[in-house]
Amino acid sequence: MNPSKHPIVIALDGTSASGKSTTAKLVAKALSAIYVDTGAMYRTLAWHCLQKGVDIHDEKAVGALCRKWKTTLECVDNQVRLLVDGYYPEQEIRTATTSAAVPAVAAVPKVRDWMKKRQRECLQFGDLVMEGRDIGTNVFPETDFKFYLDASLDERAKRRAAEGVEENLAARDQRDSQRASAPLMIALGAMVINNSGLTREATSQLIIDEVHRRKGAGGR
Ligand code: DC
Repeated sequence: MNPSKHPIVIALDGTSASGKSTTAKLVAKALSAIYVDTGAMYRTLAWHCLQKGVDIHDEKAVGALCRKWKTTLECVDNQVRLLVDGYYPEQEIRTATTSAAVPAVAAVPKVRDWMKKRQRECLQFGDLVMEGRDIGTNVFPETDFKFYLDASLDERAKRRAAEGVEENLAARDQRDSQRASAPLMIALGAMVINNSGLTREATSQLIIDEVHRRKGAGGR
């Protein structure tokens, strides 16, 4: 791939615990692209709200904090990070408290507009493998490389449990799919992969092969 001239975006959307992160990292490595975890960006804003004592259910206050937020995007080890005053809250954004606060923050239309701008700015770093919920539908609808990952609820619950996380995945899916602003949907033209019985390597290989196939067919 040629990151400098016409960077390409591989959009990887899907349900929670469908293996997006692991798959996106493997695909990014194989294709020498930059990995972008957009869920981490929403988590970072949610954490920032909690730190600042902003009521996450007050749309106006969350939108205002977002607008005032002096933040930077940086690319370290081929992964993009969103910083809060120069700090990357890597551990803090994974706590149960932050996880519980994210859906409310991610449902605010002004937040989604702001995030979309930051996510599109990631192109400055080169070819991207960007994972999230609305990348193929809303952030980079123009890309020809769209993928949607899913797995059975049972399988996904087992994966979360193996990570030591107990989460109501059905409730999270419902919130992500039913919010008014940029809900989780299968993008037009996306290759849908149900990876219930697949290893992470097999899932990534399906994507890598399809990216090559679409590139060969003139995709960009
Ligand atoms: O992928 P994750 O579990 O880290 O995502 C955290 C939350 O952010 C989850 O509720 C879905 C939301 N999210 C979103 O609304 N849009 C994205 N592009 C990525 C994540």
